[in-house]
Amino acid sequence: MPASRRGSGSVTLLTGQTIAIHTRTQDEEDLPHATKKTMADHLRKYESLFTLTPQRMRMIVEAFTETLELGLNKPNQIVPMIPTFVFGWPTGEEKGDFLALDLGGTNLRVCLVTLQGEGKFEITQTKYRLTEDQKQDDGQKLFDFCAECLNTFVETNMGEGEGQLKPGQCLPLGFTFSYPCSQERIDHGELIRWTKGFGAGNTEGRDVAAMFKKSLEKFQLPIQLTALINDTTGTLIASHYVNPRTKIAVIFGTGCNAAYMEHVKDVPKIENLGIDPAAEMAINCEWGAFDSFEHEHLPRTKYDTIVDDTSNKPGEQAFEKLISGRYLGEILRLVLCELIDEGVLFLGQNTYKLERPYIFDTAFLSLMESDPTDELLMVIGIFTHFFALETTLAERQFFRALAKLIGRRAARLSACGIAAIVSKMGYLEEGCSVGADGSLYNKYPGFADRVHEGLQDIFGDKGRNIITHHAEDGSGVGSAIIAAMTKNRKDAGLYLHV
Ligand code: GLC
Repeated sequence: MPASRRGSGSVTLLTGQTIAIHTRTQDEEDLPHATKKTMADHLRKYESLFTLTPQRMRMIVEAFTETLELGLNKPNQIVPMIPTFVFGWPTGEEKGDFLALDLGGTNLRVCLVTLQGEGKFEITQTKYRLTEDQKQDDGQKLFDFCAECLNTFVETNMGEGEGQLKPGQCLPLGFTFSYPCSQERIDHGELIRWTKGFGAGNTEGRDVAAMFKKSLEKFQLPIQLTALINDTTGTLIASHYVNPRTKIAVIFGTGCNAAYMEHVKDVPKIENLGIDPAAEMAINCEWGAFDSFEHEHLPRTKYDTIVDDTSNKPGEQAFEKLISGRYLGEILRLVLCELIDEGVLFLGQNTYKLERPYIFDTAFLSLMESDPTDELLMVIGIFTHFFALETTLAERQFFRALAKLIGRRAARLSACGIAAIVSKMGYLEEGCSVGADGSLYNKYPGFADRVHEGLQDIFGDKGRNIITHHAEDGSGVGSAIIAAMTKNRKDAGLYLHV
């Protein structure tokens, strides 16, 4: 019997794309579909694979806390706990015009930030899309592109009129370069490894600040690279600028990482730098690398192993690969492909579209989870429009439940990371705010609630004392504030060597 059409409509995706949707009852149609019972049985299996018990979470937190300590004690650890040379919190009175350049995961952004004091600011910005080729091509070329965009931005926004640069004026620039860099001083950073799928050649092991300066010289711009920062450090400082209860910053986006403020006396590996032990310094944890290579602590499924083995960096970023937006869609896709291979799903249909790695966007998980309709129209739309696949209601319910398992696991693991910093710093009793940013945190329905639930599973009722909130723009505003703090510090003659 042909499927009966019961109505049509359209839905707009987060990407702005509009897709047409036809509702129909497919339970009786002629394609062979898995029964409700089969899907329920499979779901039970995945539930046990992807669920993290509170006890398991506490074990992870314990190992995580030890790993953080190790990174502070010794150089070159897997979780490198990078000293950033950002000393203490902003006063809120930082003022002036600053440029910020943000090389994250997807876009390149140039911003002009005017800090007005009292925690206020204005920002003008332009975004440039990075191509896959640029991410893999030669590193110097990538920095040439950054300098070129900066040049265009300055010409467009500061060539004439109100914002025009005064003769002799030199603008301080904060460069947010969100990859692990070990820093000897604030305007230096040796790229330890690319993450998030980047692989530009001749860059790992080199000072990216020097490479960028070389590109900048070609344009003779009145700009001085004042600080090289990580997005998490920027987020920490920007969030504290507007909410002084902020003690930790986390990014849950294409990548996953955290920064927090540490006592210099508790960072033994920088003892030799002659910094006052009573001073405070932001630490970029690079926690995405937790459990890399050894895979001792995290509950990896075989899908996670495939994601890892087929990535451009096998063994690396083990924690990040279970959490970040770059990988969640791929994990779900691999489960679906297994069920296709086992002959459970989509029998008699052509599944080639779904068989392409990374084709299942993490945004689809968000959309499936937030589908408000009983028939799961959004899920129908995704599968018919993007993959030309027909689904039954039982299958769609299964897909949505699977998205929930994967999304929930990511949030609960994130809670483990936050809990490790909270335990290490003793913030549980007094409580603290955690500034959070990134597409997962901002767009995935229920992600923040699941992190909070996870914190309560770890700490009991006191877990309520730790609250995440949407962070200020760390890579733009944060970068500018750090450039301002650094300029003030250097003008005051403090720790000129770093
Ligand atoms: C990756 C990068 C890290 C960054 C994070 C979030 O983990 O290594 O530097 O902070 O992604 O963008």
